[in-house]
Amino acid sequence: GGPAPTDTATGFAVESPNVTYGDDTINARYTYRTTDVSFADGKYQAKPKETVYDFKTQTKVGKVGLMLVGLGGNNGSTVTAGILANRRKLEWETRERSRKANYYGSVVMSSTVKLGTDTKTGKDVNLPLHNLLPMAHPDNIVIGWWDISGLDLAAAMDRAQVLEPTLKSLVRKEMAGMTPLPSIYYPNFIAANQGDRADNIIPGSNACMEHVDHIRKDIRDFKHANGLDKVIVLWTANTERYANLIPGVNDTADNLLKAISAGHTEIAPSTVFAVASILESAPFINGSPQNTFVPGCIQLAEQHHTFIGGDDFKSGQTKMKSALVDFMINAGIKLTSIASYNHLGNNDGKNLSSQKQFRSKEISKSTVVDDMVAANNVLYKEGEHPDHTVVIKYMPAVGDNKRALDEYYAEIFLGGHQTISMFNVCEDSLLASPLIIDLVLITELFTRIQWRQHTTATTHQGESDCQDWKSFHSVLSVLSYLLKAPLTPPGAPIVNALAKQRSALVNIMKACVGLEPENDMTLEHKLF
Ligand code: NAI
Repeated sequence: GGPAPTDTATGFAVESPNVTYGDDTINARYTYRTTDVSFADGKYQAKPKETVYDFKTQTKVGKVGLMLVGLGGNNGSTVTAGILANRRKLEWETRERSRKANYYGSVVMSSTVKLGTDTKTGKDVNLPLHNLLPMAHPDNIVIGWWDISGLDLAAAMDRAQVLEPTLKSLVRKEMAGMTPLPSIYYPNFIAANQGDRADNIIPGSNACMEHVDHIRKDIRDFKHANGLDKVIVLWTANTERYANLIPGVNDTADNLLKAISAGHTEIAPSTVFAVASILESAPFINGSPQNTFVPGCIQLAEQHHTFIGGDDFKSGQTKMKSALVDFMINAGIKLTSIASYNHLGNNDGKNLSSQKQFRSKEISKSTVVDDMVAANNVLYKEGEHPDHTVVIKYMPAVGDNKRALDEYYAEIFLGGHQTISMFNVCEDSLLASPLIIDLVLITELFTRIQWRQHTTATTHQGESDCQDWKSFHSVLSVLSYLLKAPLTPPGAPIVNALAKQRSALVNIMKACVGLEPENDMTLEHKLF
């Protein structure tokens, strides 16, 4: 411990008896205030509750590696080019004007949080979210990869048709030198129309321990070759079909490992990657909608205390939905139907034109309003839901420029109706790539945070009984803001509402430096 330094890597220091700065840690004691509710004598009893936690954040970030599964796809090639462009501070001409590399669309790099109020001016002081705690910088992330398609990254970037030719020419040489490691390909998990891409594969078309060991070795070799302190693995490969949940096969960690050894046909490539990553203590994030995290895989992550996060990047239509529906239902407007239609012409769209893969996406997209609906017992009876339909069509001509049309139909005052129609057009991969960066930066941060709970009453200075230091639960639900179908620890509720997801992330980060959650009361501007 020691007094707060005048400046830290993050550009601010907290002056509080609850916060101490060590040589390589930030230590914060934080009182978490909640409300316990019970029902007795015909009414609710609400009782404020305080839980005292210590948070300890290692400040040394170290050298971080990211291994992408499916790097040769639209997202993979775009995120890599974007990181290179930022690292080299590139500028390029477009038909409009010259552009500089940036991290727009990354909540960590390009959004701000309120630190507090300036004592002199009374104005809010805002910081980039990235500065709240010491975090890795995306420019410094070392990228590695697998793909079943052997194209080098320059050719993959051309195939993706996402970036301006001027930008491509500036990164082409470096990208051309990046070729994917061979990957595992079990044809019955992705669409048959992907078959002609699969020219870079590890032999074998069913799960097996050799595949797990092969991927584990790839991770170790990459870590060693680049002198990395940690590696995060992220699936941005094709959407797979759902794996059937079979008792004795993928229901427990032991059964899953046995089923892999036995070459069971119901184990998806993404699950093999997840298992290999977990066994290498490398966090694994799933950016696609399929059920990679079968119960046995979640249990394995828990046993190994390795972080897992998923599922399915929340980039365009669903992000909008989780903001708009939150607004409507919290405004007391009874949303009665959502019709979501998309068409896209990239390889993701081609893969999703196959029914089983589309079904994974349909499931992922359709549960996103459930928590908001369930919370409003004025508008909705128990079990009542708005109608919700999701359609996705493959339209090669529009390429990566996805079109999403949504109609929100709602009941308003006295039987009236409100219809909101939305048309969202954007380069899909330019929305998804910054999410990949956010997922990695946040996951990396949480590998450095530990917590313990005080079990007896505590004074600010005094010590009290504490549990041992622990990490957050293996299922890293703090990533929810970035994901369409957030995975939560078994039994924990799922939060889809966008604003709540962001608050959870920001306020947990604030708690780690001993700051109160932003409550938006601004009493200082109301009570004087
Ligand atoms: P893509 O089809 O361009 O890229 C996928 C890549 O994965 C391809 O290069 C393919 O060869 C490779 N691949 C397939 N199976 C593999 C395996 N077993 N091992 C290694 N590589 C494998 O797709 P895109 O547009 O990059 O999207 C990637 C994933 O992200 C898709 O599942 C998509 O649904 C999901 N996603 C994308 C969003 C977006 O682009 N805005 C939003 C949400 C999710």
